[in-house]
Amino acid sequence: MQKKLVFATNNEHKLEEIKAIIGDGYDILSLKEIGCDSDIPETAATLEGNALQKARWIHEQSGCDCFADDTGLEVKALDGEPGVLSARYAQSNGRGDGHDAEANSRLLLERLDGCTDRAARFRTVIALILNGREILAEGIVNGVIATSPRGTDGFGYDPLFIPEGEERTFAEMDASEKNAISHRRRAADELLKVLETSFI
Ligand code: IMP
Repeated sequence: MQKKLVFATNNEHKLEEIKAIIGDGYDILSLKEIGCDSDIPETAATLEGNALQKARWIHEQSGCDCFADDTGLEVKALDGEPGVLSARYAQSNGRGDGHDAEANSRLLLERLDGCTDRAARFRTVIALILNGREILAEGIVNGVIATSPRGTDGFGYDPLFIPEGEERTFAEMDASEKNAISHRRRAADELLKVLETSFI
């Protein structure tokens, strides 16, 4: 019988992506599928803290093995900003409301105006609670921030992020190309390794 594992998301795209990577060993369920429609608290100061907070919350509510993710864009010249604030970067600086990707990107470009060191990385942290044990997995993709947005695919900061070894931004790549090298993909690969070894 397949073991159940709840993924603390209702994002269909993330769900399909993770199912494709984890394969048949686990039955991955979304929040909707376990009847959870609450807003899960996400108030920690780090990606690790947020991922753990969400996983613990689901574990307490459902008693199921589960995992949660959190992602941030970390820009070297800005001491790791926007980081854990990536989704609400503009809002947390008194601009725009909620998850406004364009306002976030505008603010980032403004902060980097005239800056020659444009190194950045996307980092995804996955917190897994398996048999009562908490385990963290991480995925990183290094790159640089473009001087202006390019491309129409993807979401969030994709039009500004040029991954290492590429000239195109994530938004100029098609989804399969991006997903093959993305931070989320790398974190999911790490999660799979943990799950495979936990079978032994
Ligand atoms: P989440 O933890 O996956 O919800 O990501 C938090 C925020 O990071 C998103 O709202 C986006 O602003 C940004 N982000 C996460 N992943 C990506 C990505 O693959 N491309 C561009 N932006 C991303």
